Amino acid sequence: MTPETIQIVKSTAPVVKEKGKEITERMYEIAFNERPEYRRFFENTHMKSPEEGRKQAAKLAASVYAYASHIDELEKLSDAVEQIANAHVNTRVIAEQYPVIGECLLAAMKDILGDAATPEVMEAWTEAYNSLAAIFITREQEIYREQDKKMQAEFK
Ligand code: HEM
Repeated sequence: MTPETIQIVKSTAPVVKEKGKEITERMYEIAFNERPEYRRFFENTHMKSPEEGRKQAAKLAASVYAYASHIDELEKLSDAVEQIANAHVNTRVIAEQYPVIGECLLAAMKDILGDAATPEVMEAWTEAYNSLAAIFITREQEIYREQDKKMQAEFK
């Protein structure tokens, strides 16, 4: 990420905190409309009840805010990354889904932030999302490989 991206994303942290839940609830709405097949990943949350769906949206909002506010000190997020990566592996999330969810999140930001979603802000968030997605994808692939190895050892 460029220093400009880091600075722009960090400057959006307050508005991301204020509107985070609106953004992520809108994100799931867009995602489930455009990709109904993604619903099955959320059988423990959105598919269970609207309340569980709102809880999931709140968790996502908190993580997006944590990312925006710590984007210049990502080492502080390593425990959170580990926990989220494990939640993703447990529900069998895969790398190919990240660009889809990214588009939904960026579209939701645009809808909810309105005028504050300037082209510069959208560009910075696109780069920042891709960078965060790469962190999760790398860690999740490692966990999948560790699980595979364990399985192979068990069946030897
Ligand atoms: C950078 C992008 C993403 C961020 C920041 C993110 C964030 C989160 C967070 C904070 C949680 C809650 C973890 C917990 O309960 O401890 C979570 C869970 C989850 N995420 Fe993501 N996520 C991202 C991408 C994705 C993608 C691409 C998918 C694919 C559909 C996905 C699907 C899920 C699912 C299914 C859960 C678990 C729901 C359950 O508890 O059963 N996420 N994510």
